[in-house]
Amino acid sequence: MQKKCFYDFNRPSNVKTFRNHIYSYFEKHGRQLPWRIDYNPYQIFISEVMLQQTQVERVKQKFPDFIDKYPDFSMLAKSGLEDVFQVWQGLGYNRRASALRESAKIIVSDHNGILPDNPEILKKLPGIGNATSSSIVAFAFNKPVVFLETNIRTIFIHHFFPDNSLVGDDLILPLATIALDKSNPRKWYSALMDYGTMLKKEFGNLTRQSKAYKKQTPFKGSHRQLRGAVLKLLIMHKKLTLAKFEHLTEYDRPLLKEILSQLEKENLVKESEEFYRIAE
Ligand code: ADE
Repeated sequence: MQKKCFYDFNRPSNVKTFRNHIYSYFEKHGRQLPWRIDYNPYQIFISEVMLQQTQVERVKQKFPDFIDKYPDFSMLAKSGLEDVFQVWQGLGYNRRASALRESAKIIVSDHNGILPDNPEILKKLPGIGNATSSSIVAFAFNKPVVFLETNIRTIFIHHFFPDNSLVGDDLILPLATIALDKSNPRKWYSALMDYGTMLKKEFGNLTRQSKAYKKQTPFKGSHRQLRGAVLKLLIMHKKLTLAKFEHLTEYDRPLLKEILSQLEKENLVKESEEFYRIAE
Protein backbone atom coordinates (compact mmCIF):
# COMPACT_ATOMS: atom_id res chain seq x y z
CA MET A 1 0.00 0.00 0.00
CA GLN A 2 1.36 3.42 -0.96
CA LYS A 3 1.86 5.81 1.93
CA LYS A 4 -0.32 8.91 1.87
CA CYS A 5 2.16 11.72 1.54
CA PHE A 6 1.37 15.42 1.23
CA TYR A 7 3.50 17.96 -0.52
CA ASP A 8 3.59 21.70 0.04
CA PHE A 9 4.81 23.37 -3.16
CA ASN A 10 5.44 26.64 -1.30
CA ARG A 11 8.75 25.02 -0.47
CA PRO A 12 10.61 24.54 -3.78
CA SER A 13 12.51 21.51 -2.52
CA ASN A 14 9.19 19.71 -2.23
CA VAL A 15 8.63 20.02 -5.98
CA LYS A 16 11.79 18.02 -6.53
CA THR A 17 10.81 15.48 -3.88
CA PHE A 18 7.40 15.05 -5.52
CA ARG A 19 8.97 14.51 -8.95
CA ASN A 20 11.43 12.01 -7.49
CA HIS A 21 8.58 10.13 -5.89
CA ILE A 22 6.74 9.81 -9.21
CA TYR A 23 9.92 8.92 -11.11
CA SER A 24 11.02 6.31 -8.61
CA TYR A 25 7.69 4.54 -9.06
CA PHE A 26 8.14 4.78 -12.83
CA GLU A 27 11.70 3.35 -12.72
CA LYS A 28 10.42 0.28 -10.88
CA HIS A 29 6.94 -0.20 -12.33
CA GLY A 30 6.75 1.80 -15.59
CA ARG A 31 4.73 -0.06 -18.22
CA GLN A 32 6.11 -1.16 -21.56
CA LEU A 33 3.44 -0.08 -24.00
CA PRO A 34 3.52 -0.44 -27.79
CA TRP A 35 3.11 3.32 -28.34
CA ARG A 36 6.09 4.02 -26.11
CA ILE A 37 8.65 2.45 -28.43
CA ASP A 38 9.64 5.16 -30.88
CA TYR A 39 7.02 7.88 -30.24
CA ASN A 40 6.11 8.12 -33.90
CA PRO A 41 3.64 11.06 -34.02
CA TYR A 42 1.09 9.11 -36.07
CA GLN A 43 1.15 6.23 -33.59
CA ILE A 44 0.84 8.62 -30.64
CA PHE A 45 -2.14 10.27 -32.32
CA ILE A 46 -3.88 6.91 -32.76
CA SER A 47 -3.04 5.66 -29.25
CA GLU A 48 -4.22 8.84 -27.50
CA VAL A 49 -7.59 8.72 -29.27
CA MET A 50 -7.95 5.02 -28.41
CA LEU A 51 -7.04 5.75 -24.77
CA GLN A 52 -9.67 8.51 -24.42
CA GLN A 53 -12.38 6.08 -23.35
CA THR A 54 -10.82 2.63 -23.45
CA GLN A 55 -8.66 0.87 -20.86
CA VAL A 56 -4.92 0.51 -21.52
CA GLU A 57 -5.09 -3.32 -21.46
CA ARG A 58 -7.62 -3.40 -24.27
CA VAL A 59 -5.86 -0.70 -26.31
CA LYS A 60 -2.60 -2.65 -25.93
CA GLN A 61 -4.23 -5.60 -27.70
CA LYS A 62 -5.90 -3.68 -30.52
CA PHE A 63 -3.30 -0.99 -31.26
CA PRO A 64 -0.74 -3.21 -33.12
CA ASP A 65 -3.41 -4.53 -35.54
CA PHE A 66 -4.55 -1.01 -36.29
CA ILE A 67 -1.00 0.19 -36.96
CA ASP A 68 -0.25 -2.85 -39.15
CA LYS A 69 -3.27 -2.17 -41.28
CA TYR A 70 -2.99 1.64 -41.29
CA PRO A 71 0.70 2.51 -40.81
CA ASP A 72 0.41 6.24 -41.54
CA PHE A 73 -2.01 9.14 -42.06
CA SER A 74 -2.08 8.60 -45.81
CA MET A 75 -3.16 4.94 -45.56
CA LEU A 76 -5.81 5.80 -42.98
CA ALA A 77 -7.08 8.72 -45.09
CA LYS A 78 -7.56 6.37 -48.07
CA SER A 79 -9.33 3.65 -46.09
CA GLY A 80 -12.97 2.57 -46.25
CA LEU A 81 -15.03 3.18 -43.12
CA GLU A 82 -16.22 -0.41 -42.96
CA ASP A 83 -12.63 -1.70 -42.83
CA VAL A 84 -11.70 0.83 -40.16
CA PHE A 85 -14.68 -0.26 -38.04
CA GLN A 86 -13.62 -3.86 -38.49
CA VAL A 87 -10.18 -3.20 -36.97
CA TRP A 88 -11.73 -0.90 -34.33
CA GLN A 89 -14.10 -3.59 -33.03
CA GLY A 90 -13.73 -4.11 -29.28
CA LEU A 91 -12.61 -0.53 -28.57
CA GLY A 92 -16.15 0.89 -28.37
CA TYR A 93 -17.40 4.40 -29.20
CA ASN A 94 -17.09 3.79 -32.97
CA ARG A 95 -17.55 7.47 -33.72
CA ARG A 96 -13.92 7.88 -32.68
CA ALA A 97 -12.80 5.58 -35.52
CA SER A 98 -14.65 7.68 -38.07
CA ALA A 99 -13.29 10.91 -36.54
CA LEU A 100 -9.75 9.50 -36.74
CA ARG A 101 -10.17 8.82 -40.44
CA GLU A 102 -11.56 12.33 -41.00
CA SER A 103 -8.60 13.78 -39.09
CA ALA A 104 -6.20 11.74 -41.22
CA LYS A 105 -7.81 13.21 -44.37
CA ILE A 106 -7.33 16.76 -43.03
CA ILE A 107 -3.72 16.09 -42.00
CA VAL A 108 -2.96 14.77 -45.50
CA SER A 109 -4.78 17.57 -47.36
CA ASP A 110 -3.95 20.58 -45.15
CA HIS A 111 -0.68 19.61 -43.45
CA ASN A 112 1.17 17.51 -46.07
CA GLY A 113 0.63 14.38 -44.00
CA ILE A 114 2.69 15.81 -41.13
CA LEU A 115 1.09 16.06 -37.70
CA PRO A 116 1.18 19.68 -36.42
CA ASP A 117 2.94 20.09 -33.06
CA ASN A 118 0.58 22.82 -31.84
CA PRO A 119 -2.36 21.88 -29.57
CA GLU A 120 -4.43 24.82 -30.89
CA ILE A 121 -4.25 23.39 -34.42
CA LEU A 122 -4.85 19.81 -33.28
CA LYS A 123 -7.94 20.92 -31.34
CA LYS A 124 -9.64 21.82 -34.61
CA LEU A 125 -9.55 18.19 -35.76
CA PRO A 126 -12.67 16.07 -35.21
CA GLY A 127 -12.61 14.07 -31.97
CA ILE A 128 -9.65 15.98 -30.53
CA GLY A 129 -10.39 18.04 -27.42
CA ASN A 130 -8.27 20.02 -24.96
CA ALA A 131 -6.65 17.15 -23.10
CA THR A 132 -6.01 14.96 -26.15
CA SER A 133 -4.49 17.77 -28.24
CA SER A 134 -2.00 18.50 -25.47
CA SER A 135 -1.25 14.90 -24.56
CA ILE A 136 -0.43 14.22 -28.24
CA VAL A 137 1.96 17.18 -28.31
CA ALA A 138 3.63 16.13 -25.03
CA PHE A 139 4.12 12.49 -26.07
CA ALA A 140 4.80 12.92 -29.79
CA PHE A 141 6.99 16.05 -29.67
CA ASN A 142 8.21 16.10 -26.06
CA LYS A 143 6.94 19.67 -25.65
CA PRO A 144 6.23 21.06 -22.15
CA VAL A 145 2.47 21.62 -22.43
CA VAL A 146 0.28 21.45 -19.33
CA PHE A 147 -2.88 19.35 -19.38
CA LEU A 148 -5.13 17.43 -17.03
CA GLU A 149 -6.84 14.10 -17.54
CA THR A 150 -8.14 11.46 -15.20
CA ASN A 151 -4.79 9.90 -14.10
CA ILE A 152 -3.27 13.30 -13.50
CA ARG A 153 -6.28 14.60 -11.52
CA THR A 154 -6.14 11.44 -9.41
CA ILE A 155 -2.53 12.09 -8.44
CA PHE A 156 -3.02 15.72 -7.46
CA ILE A 157 -6.19 15.00 -5.51
CA HIS A 158 -4.42 12.16 -3.67
CA HIS A 159 -1.36 14.18 -2.70
CA PHE A 160 -2.75 17.68 -2.31
CA PHE A 161 -6.49 17.55 -1.59
CA PRO A 162 -7.18 14.24 0.13
CA ASP A 163 -10.01 15.65 2.22
CA ASN A 164 -11.70 18.02 -0.25
CA SER A 165 -14.97 16.70 -1.56
CA LEU A 166 -14.98 18.63 -4.84
CA VAL A 167 -11.73 19.79 -6.37
CA GLY A 168 -11.86 22.07 -9.43
CA ASP A 169 -9.26 22.06 -12.19
CA ASP A 170 -8.51 25.67 -11.18
CA LEU A 171 -6.91 24.25 -8.02
CA ILE A 172 -5.07 21.42 -9.76
CA LEU A 173 -3.74 23.30 -12.81
CA PRO A 174 -1.26 25.59 -10.97
CA LEU A 175 0.21 22.57 -9.18
CA ALA A 176 0.46 20.54 -12.39
CA THR A 177 2.22 23.53 -14.01
CA ILE A 178 4.83 23.74 -11.24
CA ALA A 179 5.32 19.97 -11.10
CA LEU A 180 5.87 19.48 -14.87
CA ASP A 181 9.38 18.30 -15.63
CA LYS A 182 10.13 20.62 -18.53
CA SER A 183 13.37 18.83 -19.25
CA ASN A 184 11.50 15.70 -20.32
CA PRO A 185 7.72 16.15 -20.62
CA ARG A 186 7.31 12.83 -22.44
CA LYS A 187 8.90 10.87 -19.60
CA TRP A 188 7.07 12.97 -16.99
CA TYR A 189 3.64 12.35 -18.47
CA SER A 190 4.35 8.65 -19.02
CA ALA A 191 5.30 8.41 -15.32
CA LEU A 192 2.14 10.29 -14.28
CA MET A 193 -0.05 7.94 -16.35
CA ASP A 194 1.43 4.85 -14.70
CA TYR A 195 1.49 6.27 -11.18
CA GLY A 196 -2.10 7.53 -11.51
CA THR A 197 -3.25 4.11 -12.74
CA MET A 198 -1.64 2.49 -9.69
CA LEU A 199 -3.32 5.00 -7.32
CA LYS A 200 -6.71 4.25 -8.87
CA LYS A 201 -6.16 0.53 -8.31
CA GLU A 202 -5.08 1.04 -4.70
CA PHE A 203 -7.41 3.81 -3.57
CA GLY A 204 -10.38 3.62 -5.93
CA ASN A 205 -11.48 6.36 -8.26
CA LEU A 206 -10.43 9.59 -6.58
CA THR A 207 -11.60 11.66 -9.54
CA ARG A 208 -15.06 11.38 -8.00
CA GLN A 209 -13.65 14.23 -5.91
CA SER A 210 -12.94 16.17 -9.10
CA LYS A 211 -15.40 18.73 -10.41
CA ALA A 212 -14.50 17.49 -13.89
CA TYR A 213 -15.65 13.95 -13.05
CA LYS A 214 -18.29 12.54 -15.37
CA LYS A 215 -19.54 9.07 -14.62
CA GLN A 216 -19.60 6.83 -17.68
CA THR A 217 -23.24 5.95 -18.23
CA PRO A 218 -24.11 2.23 -17.78
CA PHE A 219 -23.52 0.32 -20.99
CA LYS A 220 -26.17 -2.36 -20.62
CA GLY A 221 -29.48 -1.32 -22.18
CA SER A 222 -28.03 2.01 -23.33
CA HIS A 223 -28.17 3.74 -26.71
CA ARG A 224 -24.41 3.22 -26.82
CA GLN A 225 -24.84 -0.55 -26.58
CA LEU A 226 -27.52 -0.49 -29.25
CA ARG A 227 -25.43 1.64 -31.60
CA GLY A 228 -22.53 -0.78 -31.14
CA ALA A 229 -24.78 -3.77 -31.83
CA VAL A 230 -26.30 -2.19 -34.95
CA LEU A 231 -22.88 -1.34 -36.40
CA LYS A 232 -21.57 -4.82 -35.59
CA LEU A 233 -24.46 -6.39 -37.50
CA LEU A 234 -23.82 -4.11 -40.47
CA ILE A 235 -20.12 -4.99 -40.50
CA MET A 236 -21.03 -8.68 -40.43
CA HIS A 237 -23.85 -8.67 -43.00
CA LYS A 238 -22.72 -5.72 -45.20
CA LYS A 239 -26.31 -4.60 -45.88
CA LEU A 240 -29.56 -5.03 -43.97
CA THR A 241 -33.16 -3.92 -44.24
CA LEU A 242 -35.12 -2.72 -41.21
CA ALA A 243 -37.10 -5.95 -41.24
CA LYS A 244 -33.90 -7.98 -41.14
CA PHE A 245 -32.58 -5.83 -38.27
CA GLU A 246 -35.78 -6.54 -36.35
CA HIS A 247 -35.38 -10.22 -37.02
CA LEU A 248 -31.74 -10.26 -35.86
CA THR A 249 -32.23 -8.20 -32.69
CA GLU A 250 -34.75 -7.89 -29.87
CA TYR A 251 -35.29 -4.22 -30.60
CA ASP A 252 -38.52 -2.84 -31.95
CA ARG A 253 -38.78 -0.91 -35.18
CA PRO A 254 -39.16 2.67 -33.82
CA LEU A 255 -36.07 2.29 -31.66
CA LEU A 256 -34.07 0.77 -34.53
CA LYS A 257 -35.20 3.59 -36.82
CA GLU A 258 -34.14 6.18 -34.29
CA ILE A 259 -30.68 4.62 -33.85
CA LEU A 260 -30.17 4.18 -37.59
CA SER A 261 -31.18 7.72 -38.41
CA GLN A 262 -28.82 9.01 -35.71
CA LEU A 263 -26.00 6.94 -37.23
CA GLU A 264 -26.91 8.29 -40.67
CA LYS A 265 -26.77 11.89 -39.43
CA GLU A 266 -23.28 11.23 -38.12
CA ASN A 267 -22.26 9.80 -41.52
CA LEU A 268 -21.50 6.40 -40.06
CA VAL A 269 -24.33 4.63 -41.89
CA LYS A 270 -26.11 5.26 -45.19
CA GLU A 271 -29.46 4.06 -46.48
CA SER A 272 -30.45 3.46 -50.05
CA GLU A 273 -33.30 1.47 -51.55
CA GLU A 274 -34.35 0.17 -48.14
CA PHE A 275 -30.89 -1.20 -47.36
CA TYR A 276 -28.66 0.14 -44.64
CA ARG A 277 -24.87 -0.10 -45.02
CA ILE A 278 -21.77 1.34 -43.40
CA ALA A 279 -21.05 4.72 -45.01
CA GLU A 280 -18.11 5.03 -47.41
N1 ADE B 1 -3.93 7.31 -20.89
C1 ADE B 1 -3.96 8.33 -21.75
N2 ADE B 1 -2.79 8.45 -22.40
C2 ADE B 1 -2.01 7.45 -21.93
C3 ADE B 1 -0.72 7.02 -22.23
N3 ADE B 1 -0.02 7.63 -23.16
N4 ADE B 1 -0.21 5.98 -21.56
C4 ADE B 1 -0.97 5.36 -20.64
N5 ADE B 1 -2.20 5.70 -20.31
C5 ADE B 1 -2.73 6.73 -20.96
